[in-house]
Amino acid sequence: MVTELTTFDAERKMLLDAGYGAPAINYYLEKKYMGCFEDADQVFKKIGSCGDIMKVYLKVDNNTINDARYEITGCAGAIAAAMAAVDLVKGKTVDEALKINDGDVFKVLKNIPEKKHHCIQLAVKTMHEGILEYKNLH
Ligand code: FES
Repeated sequence: MVTELTTFDAERKMLLDAGYGAPAINYYLEKKYMGCFEDADQVFKKIGSCGDIMKVYLKVDNNTINDARYEITGCAGAIAAAMAAVDLVKGKTVDEALKINDGDVFKVLKNIPEKKHHCIQLAVKTMHEGILEYKNLH
């Protein structure tokens, strides 16, 4: 008997086989922080060396990052890293959030293929530069 996988399961298996950790796969499939805020306190766009584009939307109150969203035209690694970055900065002060680095995001994702490490860098740089721009303007 042939058991058919749902598209969701099939995608999960492909990512697992490619070297993505379970948390990375969940972040990618759930995309829980994809989108934008019309009333964002800061918006920042960055284009990676691969040509992929990320735009971060920050909600900041009293020097604390309350929430963030990303719009991304990019790969599974980029999406997973950006979603993890939001979980890492939420509730942190602007200065604490600036200390979050690629290694922190990697730890949350558990694993990601070696060739996708620059995608983590893009997510973190976009977040950092957005926060720095916010700091400069406020
Ligand atoms: Fe461009 Fe992943 S390949 S961000």
